[in-house]
Amino acid sequence: MKLTKTIEVKNIFNKISYKYDFLNNLLSFGLHRLWKRKLVNLLEPLNGEDWVDLCCGTGDLAFLISERVSPRGSITGIDSAEEILNIAKNKSELKKNKFIKWEIQDVLEINDYPKKFDGICMSYGLRNLNNVEEGIKKVFDLLKDKGRAGFLDFNHSTRNSLSNIFQKIYLRLIVVTISRLFNLGPEYEYIEKSISNFPNKNELINIAKEVGFKKAEYRTILGGQMGILILTK
Ligand SMILES: C[S@@+](CC[C@H](N)C(=O)[O-])C[C@H]1O[C@@H](n2cnc3c(N)ncnc32)[C@H](O)[C@@H]1O
Repeated sequence: MKLTKTIEVKNIFNKISYKYDFLNNLLSFGLHRLWKRKLVNLLEPLNGEDWVDLCCGTGDLAFLISERVSPRGSITGIDSAEEILNIAKNKSELKKNKFIKWEIQDVLEINDYPKKFDGICMSYGLRNLNNVEEGIKKVFDLLKDKGRAGFLDFNHSTRNSLSNIFQKIYLRLIVVTISRLFNLGPEYEYIEKSISNFPNKNELINIAKEVGFKKAEYRTILGGQMGILILTK
């Protein structure tokens, strides 16, 4: 069952990779870039620190963090889908950015990583993992003491709340309708299901505290459509 979901998620992202950035910009009206910048601003990566962007996709966060931690630090982008990671690598070449390291790996299968990180970020990745709790535990294990982690994702709002109704309308009428024009309807229909299985803000905070994080804060964005979870070890 777990393996099936992993393969299903990997296939989805390999399939949509060629249109991923284009559709992200279109479907979020460009706003995802502001939210990613907000996440990085909240995390405040510093020159000299070691960071990792987990579930990096085409690498938006990794590129933002590389501006902050270079030249003395490091940033690695990790993703399990080869096609989407290839797009990140091509973007690096176009931007002449040789600073970011890219690694193909399943986040939940990272064991005995050679180093610990000052900071870890993840955007729209946690919801896609087989097991959210395992994902947060993995982040905890990969962080140095006092390290910080930040997650940007859809907010699982209260059922039938205004923001929940708006989210459903947006996903069904805008996201799925537009993605169908590119023959990617089923892949984008998956988002609504993944949000309904995703913990809400209080549950995320509880999981983080149980895993051992000293501090856990959650902020909603755009009237509760998105959320940012910030954790300190
Ligand atoms: C919605 S995309 C987000 C990409 C990027 N972080 C962004 O915000 O644009 C989710 C990414 O998570 C990756 N992913 C899903 N499950 C993963 C796993 N278990 N290990 C590593 N990457 C995973 C997918 O391949 C995909 O690139």
